[in-house]
Amino acid sequence: MNLLDSLVERAIANKQRIVLPEGSEERTLRAADRLICDGVAEIILLGNPGEIAEQAKKFGLDNINSGTIIDPKNHDKKEIYTNLLLELRKKKGMTPEQAASLVEDPLYLACLMIKNGDADGEIAGAQNTTGDVLRPALQIIKTAPGVKVVSGAFIMFTQTPQYGENGILLFADCAVMPNPTAEELASIAIASAQTMKSLVGIEPRVAMLSFSTKGSAEHEMIDKVREATRIAKEISPSLLIDGELQADAALVPAVGASKAPGSDIAGKANVLVFPTLESGNIGYKLVQRLGNAEAVGPVLQGMAAPVNDLSRGCSVDDIYKMVVIAANQAIGMKQYK
Ligand code: ACO
Repeated sequence: MNLLDSLVERAIANKQRIVLPEGSEERTLRAADRLICDGVAEIILLGNPGEIAEQAKKFGLDNINSGTIIDPKNHDKKEIYTNLLLELRKKKGMTPEQAASLVEDPLYLACLMIKNGDADGEIAGAQNTTGDVLRPALQIIKTAPGVKVVSGAFIMFTQTPQYGENGILLFADCAVMPNPTAEELASIAIASAQTMKSLVGIEPRVAMLSFSTKGSAEHEMIDKVREATRIAKEISPSLLIDGELQADAALVPAVGASKAPGSDIAGKANVLVFPTLESGNIGYKLVQRLGNAEAVGPVLQGMAAPVNDLSRGCSVDDIYKMVVIAANQAIGMKQYK
């Protein structure tokens, strides 16, 4: 059974409530219809009920009737969520008027539902930018206990079985932190290893990437990666991690053996941690497009509840997969609470 099939099976066996704030968007509706039909999750669509019903009818999506539809402008819990938002953000200067207006924004409402225990996870981004999806989640749901930063990983299914774990690798951070500090980079490495283990089911071997391997060059950007590796080892002594490594030294056994002799990771890495968002975001897109790899994500790691962002160019299939992933993250988080 492939990874996605096993995640679908796990989601069906333990149904989670997943909220989709872009409820009247065509791809979202089509994915929701399939998810409801397959029994993968309890789907909550946010949007104007009349518009959603009209769209569903137009596209012949009969299963949408079995989902829950909430009108952000008019529902029973509006006051509860307004008060919750005000409580969470008043120290940051939010006024009652601002809270009353933001609570009608589906991206805020989805996070408030999760915070209040009325949903287990959220998927959005078919229409909204990454920043707009993440900001309310960072403000309302916040990071999991003990976690410093939220980051975004991609599970890369490559066409090169000689690398990673039979061609499967995890890349991070490709979505959130533009320029992490050494401490933040260490946190990203630890979270990525956890994602590889708990979601993908593969024992992580983490490479901290740079343009230098073990002192082949000197620069403050390399110092950051070395320091991040040291901090990650200090926080998590059992973690299999090494750095700084160039990408070829991380992946190719012969190059790893010559550039980083004695390293447990060089030539065998299956988790690649990039030093900045630029390198991570560009790197995953190059592997996806030029290497014809399937990139599943970004899977947000470190948030107190699963919120996953979509690319605005996403397909119905992408939305389906991200709901499956969010449901599995939610199941995992509840197990380890
Ligand atoms: N982890 C945890 N908390 C965070 C993080 C983080 N990585 N980043 C911001 N926060 C918190 C802040 O502490 C702050 O909390 P507070 O208001 O309670 O004090 C809150 O989130 C808002 O922080 P700001 O810095 O004001 O938010 P900003 O407007 O900078 O937005 C964001 C943060 C959205 C994550 C921003 O860094 C961003 O846009 N990142 C790039 C996203 C992106 O464009 N990615 C590339 C595309 S994705 C793709 O191609 C797959």
